[in-house]
Amino acid sequence: MTTVIFGGTAAYHLKLADHAIVGERRVMDTPYGDSAPFVHLTAFSGGSAWFSSRHGEDGLQRTAAFVNHRANLWAARALGASAIYSWNGVGAIAAGLSVGQMVVPDDLLDMTRARVGSFVENGSPSPVEVVDMPAGSPFDSGLRARLNAACAAMGFVCASHGTYVCTEGPRLESAAEIAMYGWGGAAVVGMTLSPEVWLAAELGIPYASLCIITNMATGRWHLDSRRDFGPGVGVKGLQVTLAALNIPPETEAN
Ligand code: HPA
Repeated sequence: MTTVIFGGTAAYHLKLADHAIVGERRVMDTPYGDSAPFVHLTAFSGGSAWFSSRHGEDGLQRTAAFVNHRANLWAARALGASAIYSWNGVGAIAAGLSVGQMVVPDDLLDMTRARVGSFVENGSPSPVEVVDMPAGSPFDSGLRARLNAACAAMGFVCASHGTYVCTEGPRLESAAEIAMYGWGGAAVVGMTLSPEVWLAAELGIPYASLCIITNMATGRWHLDSRRDFGPGVGVKGLQVTLAALNIPPETEAN
């Protein structure tokens, strides 16, 4: 089984060698241009994965809307990925969540509007199948269970379910927008998971995400005024996703 891990917020601050044995680094040539670099990591506790920082390796080089997701996902398949984990900073919308906690989303509300969200451009011949939604959600329940188990094993407070709303960015949302997403059932807001999750689905690669709460969403600041976009976000994201490599696949889905 080959696993790919996509890192978001603060991934570019990581000293990878502090967390795993660092191997080969590859930039993949794809029909959609060069991918972001992928670095092979072997976790000290076992298991290995190809890791890629979406926003750059040396500071914020690309905001969410400018990540070349098609190249990155095509590259993941070329590397043989049969599972994809990602982590991302998010703002919290739902009551009861606070900064530093985590959520493993089980559904997605896509409010992006200017992103190329498919490999299917001109109908036939298409390189992939158009996505059906047999489970009602684009997230894989087995991989979600492994992320939740990894969080529990590491003592992190993590909500095992929740809807992620994906906004276009890079601006933050208005209070009215967040209120509307909250009425629509969203627990957390971010700018990253669409179209990554849809492209993984088109390629048939199971996908799950670990959302790390960096702030309360606009209009929810009275609940918790802290903001944490610091290096610790990436450290938690990498540690949990590497730990998930060691959780047995038969872990009970939730
Ligand atoms: N909104 C959108 N994306 C985010 C936020 C937010 O409040 N926090 C982290 N990513």
